[in-house]
Amino acid sequence: MKIAILGSGGREHAIAFSLSKSKKIKKIYCIPGNAGTSQIAENISLNLDNFEKIYKYIYKEQIDLVVIGPEEPLVNGVVDYLEKKNIKVFGPNKIASQLEGSKTFTKNLCKKYNIPTAAFGICENKKDSLKFINDAKHPIVIKADNLAAGKGVYICKNKEESYLAVNEIFDGKFGKAEKILFEEFLTGEEMSYFIISDGKSIKNFGTAQDHKRVNEGDTGKNTGGMGAYSPSRLISNKLDDKILNKIIKPTLKGLEEMGTSYKGFLYAGLMIMNDEPYLIEYNVRMGDPECQTILPRLNTDLLEIFISCMHEKLNQIEIKWTSKKSLCVVLCSKGYPEEYEKNIEITNFNKLNLNDYNFLFHAGTKLSENKIFAIGGRVLNFTSLSDYFFEARENIHKNLQKLEWNKGFYRKDIAHKVIEK
Ligand code: AMP
Ligand code: GLY
Repeated sequence: MKIAILGSGGREHAIAFSLSKSKKIKKIYCIPGNAGTSQIAENISLNLDNFEKIYKYIYKEQIDLVVIGPEEPLVNGVVDYLEKKNIKVFGPNKIASQLEGSKTFTKNLCKKYNIPTAAFGICENKKDSLKFINDAKHPIVIKADNLAAGKGVYICKNKEESYLAVNEIFDGKFGKAEKILFEEFLTGEEMSYFIISDGKSIKNFGTAQDHKRVNEGDTGKNTGGMGAYSPSRLISNKLDDKILNKIIKPTLKGLEEMGTSYKGFLYAGLMIMNDEPYLIEYNVRMGDPECQTILPRLNTDLLEIFISCMHEKLNQIEIKWTSKKSLCVVLCSKGYPEEYEKNIEITNFNKLNLNDYNFLFHAGTKLSENKIFAIGGRVLNFTSLSDYFFEARENIHKNLQKLEWNKGFYRKDIAHKVIEK
């Protein structure tokens, strides 16, 4: 089979890598891909906004299935566009993608189906928002309604911080704002929970804990994710049942009652408080770096899983996982998530110890004249499998020390909650 993957991050390299191990794979295309994907796939430099050009390329190359990595093309309707032209796609349609594309869509669904989530209020202009703040208990969480690459969330300790957040959002910091969301501040521990769906049935697709803050000790600015470990230390059969029955199934029922269904990966960002799950947000894709952390644990052919979804036969396949633990550390450009230098060469890749248990997934990298350059904020992902989290982390640190790149940094404390000092 010929498969195309849309996206250019560590998640997409991990998906391409898993697919490359399948006997049924004939060729993988990454649109646009990165230096890592170019070693196992053909990178195609096309803009993800231009659905027509993507379609023409897929048609010309007779690609059998298109897998969508990031949220933006999903929210913009790439699945609907390609399916109308009879292309097979793995990913949710435009309506279902509202689960990530519009926070108020998800909140209203939670309300209608009694899905546990933070109490919330929605305002449509500055004036109502300021009134809301005056009456609200703090801390409070304030969110832009639209996609904001994980940045449109403010945790405000007092009214002054809340006024600032409302002004920034309505002044257009995250694009045109028609609505703003206020949420009760939840305490507890976060967990990333994944399922895969073919539109008819669902299967678990693992759990992970992501470290979103830039500095050690989970402090500093929010990022896309500095590292993760899988499985989450919180998951148990009992909690799994609660998540499925109280959150995932009612959501899928809600979509069904709107006349649609969910196909693809679904990522529930949860807060676990006293063994009870609360939905913080949905993402309509795999997480990044959760995908790079979870996929190495998969013991079933990923292509067979995608094929079973294409034929709505997911219920006929068994998804197997290794019992080993997985840990991923993200190597970033110094300065991320703020300003950082680009186009810096990284060397010594040939010294890395990569094998069936130690993996390297590229993200913001570019290959030029056989040299690898850092061009993004999150640059490389190192994943290791082991019976022990601490050993996995040590393996990664050993590899990281071999690379030559003085403009990079990483958190040394990934998975600190499951690794004794
Ligand atoms: P989101 O983009 O909605 O995932 O929010 C980013 C991060 O903000 C989450 O991963 C949480 O750490 C935090 N957060 C969001 N909503 C809440 C909430 N209601 N209570 C506490 N923390 C939250
Ligand atoms: N790791 C968080 C995300 O993918 O949104």
